[in-house]
Amino acid sequence: MASRILLTGGAGYIGSHTHVALVAAGHDVVILDNFSNARRAVPERLEQITGKPTKMIEGDVRDPATLAAIFKTQAIDAVVHFAALKAVGESMARPLDYFDVNIGGLTTLLHAMEAAGCRRLVFSSSATVYGVPDEAPTAETAPFRAMNPYGQTKIMGEQMLGWLQAANPEWAVGILRYFNPAGAHGSALIGEDPRDIPNNLMPFVAKVALGELPRISVFGNDYDTPDGTGVRDYIHVEDLARGHVLSLEKLLSTGQGHVVNLGTGRGYSVLEVIAAYRRASNRDLPHVITDRRPGDVPIYVARADRAAEVLGFQTEKGLDEMCASSWKWVSNMAGGA
Ligand code: NAD
Ligand code: UFG
Repeated sequence: MASRILLTGGAGYIGSHTHVALVAAGHDVVILDNFSNARRAVPERLEQITGKPTKMIEGDVRDPATLAAIFKTQAIDAVVHFAALKAVGESMARPLDYFDVNIGGLTTLLHAMEAAGCRRLVFSSSATVYGVPDEAPTAETAPFRAMNPYGQTKIMGEQMLGWLQAANPEWAVGILRYFNPAGAHGSALIGEDPRDIPNNLMPFVAKVALGELPRISVFGNDYDTPDGTGVRDYIHVEDLARGHVLSLEKLLSTGQGHVVNLGTGRGYSVLEVIAAYRRASNRDLPHVITDRRPGDVPIYVARADRAAEVLGFQTEKGLDEMCASSWKWVSNMAGGA
């Protein structure tokens, strides 16, 4: 059944892809975004992809008046809450900003939803809630371990949502713990678009392929992994977006919440990612081995069976498609978006 969905942070990387997937599934979507980390061209790009007007409200998720007005005028059935700050290093330097946006924003949103009687929410969580996990692949039952203020906000967000559901069973929340999102939409009209030098591997490699950065630093090759470099479970952002559609539809059809990992269950090392991107871009990708990055985890790989059981979720795209779509996107956008 078609529903009206509010996407906070819907102009961002994962939100924009989820917008496309929701519209394709027949839903009516409204975006709320303050463009603190998104390009103003995104709503128009979404129109090009979907062939439908983008309903875009510019505003801050921490602003109660903005949210009250949205719930009053838009008849929202459910919310997908992406709006957050997400840079681990920055969160160490500016923890209050992270508590303000990630916790303050969530609290304000939940108040507005409660007041409007809208109690269906999908929450963007992260594998970071596992800290350094005891086991890889990591199951949803693994304990919470905060490694930095960003991770702490995701743990606190999940806990707040758990207490809320315990207090009032009319709430149903889908908590999605993403592993490492990568790649871009096949149209090359939307994708990951970091404003500064990227912290994350795939966008950094993309900039080296474009010739905008000279070389990749591989952060350590002495981990207990097959080639010594860090292993991650990269998930294509279009697969991830589809996971949100399934989560929402499950919440709306059953009224029951869930907590699931969204990953492929398969890990790739830093060197494997570089090799795949080299194949996709046909560019030389110089790299040097440097010291480990402080706070890095050797291996993050999802146990993916719960998402399959609860949501019927399976990934469809592999690392080569992530690299190819990323390369198509950054080549398309080179010189400015
Ligand atoms: P992103 O920065 O591209 O998207 C976030 C969007 O929220 C941006 O468009 C930004 O402008 C908007 N925003 C930020 N603060 C806001 C505010 N106060 N009010 C309104 N809008 C605001 O990030 P993303 O990669 O798409 O991440 C989306 C969500 O997924 C975040 O909650 C993030 O923590 C989570 N997540 C991301 C990753 C990842 O690697 N990208 C991994 C795990 C979890
Ligand atoms: N890496 C490099 N060189 C780089 C960047 C990264 O070697 O220039 C390595 C890292 O050491 C790690 C792997 O590439 O082994 C992936 O690193 P990313 O920074 O791309 O991703 P992380 O797994 O460290 O972190 C990301 C998000 C976190 C989130 C986590 C799990 O940034 O917020 O995925 O979802 F918590």
